[in-house]
Amino acid sequence: MTSSLPPSRPLDVVVLAAGAGTRMKSTLPKMLHQVCGRPMVAWAVKVAQALEARDIVVVTGHGAEQVEAALGGMGLQFVRQHEQLGTGHAFLLAAQKLRGGADVLVLYGDSPMIRPETLQAMRAEHQGAGNALTVLTSQLSDATGYGRIVRGKQGDLERIVEQKAATPTELSITEFNSGVYLMDERAGTLAGRIGNDNPAKEYYLTDLVQLYRQEGARVAAFNISDPSEVMGANDRVQLAELETLMRRRINEGHMRAGVTLQDPATTLIESDVQIARDVVLEQGVVLRGNTSVQTGVRVGAYSVVTDSQLAQEVTIKSHSVLEGAVVGEGSTVGPFARLRPGAVLAEEVHVGNFVEVKNTQLARGVKAGHLAYLGDASIGQESNIGAGTITANFDGLEKHRTTIGAGAFIGSNTTLIAPVTVADGGFVAGGSAINQDVPAGSLAVARAQQRNIARWAVNYWRKHSADKLSQRLPWLSAWLSKQE
Ligand code: UD1
Ligand code: CA
Repeated sequence: MTSSLPPSRPLDVVVLAAGAGTRMKSTLPKMLHQVCGRPMVAWAVKVAQALEARDIVVVTGHGAEQVEAALGGMGLQFVRQHEQLGTGHAFLLAAQKLRGGADVLVLYGDSPMIRPETLQAMRAEHQGAGNALTVLTSQLSDATGYGRIVRGKQGDLERIVEQKAATPTELSITEFNSGVYLMDERAGTLAGRIGNDNPAKEYYLTDLVQLYRQEGARVAAFNISDPSEVMGANDRVQLAELETLMRRRINEGHMRAGVTLQDPATTLIESDVQIARDVVLEQGVVLRGNTSVQTGVRVGAYSVVTDSQLAQEVTIKSHSVLEGAVVGEGSTVGPFARLRPGAVLAEEVHVGNFVEVKNTQLARGVKAGHLAYLGDASIGQESNIGAGTITANFDGLEKHRTTIGAGAFIGSNTTLIAPVTVADGGFVAGGSAINQDVPAGSLAVARAQQRNIARWAVNYWRKHSADKLSQRLPWLSAWLSKQE
């Protein structure tokens, strides 16, 4: 591969994204269908940004408002193509926004696989060879649907012929036009000369090949061996293929950077997730959104982690679901735990199975091992939350907070009726319903006092017929016969 030259001119990028995508059979604009958690059109924009593009102009049309909204805040310019009259027409609209004095790169909004490295190599060759127009091409044994690359006797790029206009011989050409072009600043002016005199009555951007040649300018193809890099999604079958390819690319990137994926084929890591070295992801793990994972973390099988931060040496056991959570160093979560937005676990916290945590801070060393709901609460360090503890945070109209100090012990099956406070070192007897504050160091018992009624059970059992009892419960029957 050619080493990249220092770019002598700035680069402007035009993203064509006005197409309808009827074959997606969707109310969502095609460009907004996601690949590994990012709308397809945003992949093209990210690539343009990776190339340090000066201006990025996105041509929108179908679902323009939605597409533009999805790309908001990325520093882009938009131009609307109200009628999709062809790629040449779309580009011409964008060209009116270009300031000139730059190379112009054309990308499609529905081809997310293209890598910045490939485009850098293409640009290096474009500049090194003094091309006016470089067309990115690849090959497929059956290139049906694509424009075919017609080369002259010297192997030079002569023209691009569209499927509908191609002769049988041209249809057998395996080299196809990806739709990615790098051009000099004449592109906008030349695009103004594109007509629609062709079988489809469309304005073909591919006509630029001849228009540049008529100028006596140098045009060339930049061929890449892997056609999947310029694969688009016309329907949901192809969308799934892109998802698989992109997932593999992302996963391989993480593996090469020191992350262990026990079963990469079942691991889904969205594009913006950050993972440090020496992290282990077991099979079926899904990491989404703005999740970050620090070194030494292990995420157990079939856990789904969205928009969450996992600090060093955290263990997430299998089948846990985290969203908008922060998990501090050395903490363990799960199996079957659920951390919802605002769950903030400090260091060395343990949240065990069937525990749900929402909008709650757990200080260092807190343990909530089993079957609890902790919502709108703060829990001081080293407190123990017994199995079945529930913060009753909702009174039917409003949410209220539960405050538990440090070193508190909440017995099993306690209901904490918020707003309520258990102060430092407070003790709550199991089975209590607590609706008054518990002072520091006190024991709260809030349940009916136990009574033991002598011989009640003996009398109860004796009311049953002896036959039935001895048949069904022989031990009990024998025991009863020995009682007075
Ligand atoms: C085009 C190329 C073809 C190439 C193929 C690669 C032309 C004439 N043909 O085919 O040589 O092999 O791409 O995929 O350019 N778009 C607009 N406005 C329009 C038309 C298209 O914004 O009026 C956008 C689409 O949203 C899409 C891209 O341009 O992102 C390509 O459009 P598409 O219709 O898929 O291209 P083809 O004409 O099939
Ligand atoms: Ca197409």
